[in-house]
Amino acid sequence: MTSENDMALSHAEYWDEYYSKSDGAAPTHEWFRSFGDLEQFFRTNFFDADGLTPSDKPLILNLDSGDSVIPVELASRGYQRQLCVDFSRWHL
Ligand SMILES: C[S@@+](CC[C@H](N)C(=O)[O-])C[C@H]1O[C@@H](n2cnc3c(N)ncnc32)[C@H](O)[C@@H]1O
Repeated sequence: MTSENDMALSHAEYWDEYYSKSDGAAPTHEWFRSFGDLEQFFRTNFFDADGLTPSDKPLILNLDSGDSVIPVELASRGYQRQLCVDFSRWHL
């Protein structure tokens, strides 16, 4: 990737165009790791951690959430207080 392409990543229009190609049913990409890849890490450091269990009702901030399914997976495990932030209007 060129530095010009790198710069494009910092503009919402780039991501609007990127996500416009999604079929809306499946995530376009899990950029870092899938939920399955992270589940053991979450279990050790999050799901079973003092003050962070679903019954503790922690507030979770998902920055640059894109169309990741991780917020949905967390919600299905009882984490209902989540805020997803992304500047691509595709997610509105
Ligand atoms: C590489 S994707 C990652 C998406 C998601 N976290 C995942 O793992 O599938 C980067 C996301 O960050 C968003 N983004 C990039 N810069 C941002 C900014 N300054 N403010 C808000 N969102 C931003 C983009 O719209 C895009 O959805």
